Amino acid sequence: MIAFSKYDRLKTPQQIGRPIVSIYPSQKKYFEEAYRTGEHGWPVEGASLPVSRFVTRFKKERSAGRVLDIGCGEGRHSALFAREGYRTVGLDYQPLALERARRISGNGSARANLRFMLGDVFHLPFRPGTFDVVLDYGCLHHIRRRDTHAYLENVGPVLKPGGYFLLSCFSTHFKHHPDEKRKRDWMVHNGHYDRFFRKGDFKSIFGRDFEVLNVEEERQSTYAFFHVLMRKKEKGTRS
Ligand SMILES: C[S@@+](CC[C@H](N)C(=O)[O-])C[C@H]1O[C@@H](n2cnc3c(N)ncnc32)[C@H](O)[C@@H]1O
Repeated sequence: MIAFSKYDRLKTPQQIGRPIVSIYPSQKKYFEEAYRTGEHGWPVEGASLPVSRFVTRFKKERSAGRVLDIGCGEGRHSALFAREGYRTVGLDYQPLALERARRISGNGSARANLRFMLGDVFHLPFRPGTFDVVLDYGCLHHIRRRDTHAYLENVGPVLKPGGYFLLSCFSTHFKHHPDEKRKRDWMVHNGHYDRFFRKGDFKSIFGRDFEVLNVEEERQSTYAFFHVLMRKKEKGTRS
């Protein structure tokens, strides 16, 4: 495979005289393979603690509402929101992950509130202001830095003003193995892209449209994630 970094620095096809090679097709295959083999590093079932905690708090504020889980994978977080009574859409671009998500969530009480949808985060098929909560657990850190704007242009509008945006992503302290050395806050390996965030990044990336309410870093050995709670600003309060 052609190294992504070699091309990513180049700006236009004209400058290099051939089409820009994007990581996304091989990244999509990487996720397809991950779900085909079942060999991936994130849990299939069981919501993470920060998301469970959010749900407990949110229930005190609102007992009903609509939730979107982008890059939902096998639906572990979508199922939690649905079980708690929220009308939930889990969206992912991997059919195999969604098939498994549907199977795991079964026909229980959660199922009535739960819809899994094949789709791409860059083309969200929802009307503006559809959701009270948007969750991204582990998707944004596979979006190239230069595509952050396109991501935000999709995710921002579908959330209601005052709605919550819950984000979990790699911290710069994250390492795939103890000896990993990186010169940049992103890398390409095994055919996919990983981006690593610093605490201050969230205000600079999201601060125009979102109030950053809480940023918490979870670290255990080489595992390091940021869990970020944001609230979409009401119209006219953008700074
Ligand atoms: C690290 S997994 C996390 C899965 C799930 N959120 C969880 O916590 O178990 C990232 C997920 O994002 C999905 N994904 C990546 N890029 C996407 C895109 N452009 N549109 C939709 N889903 C995407 C992948 O298929 C994968 O299921």
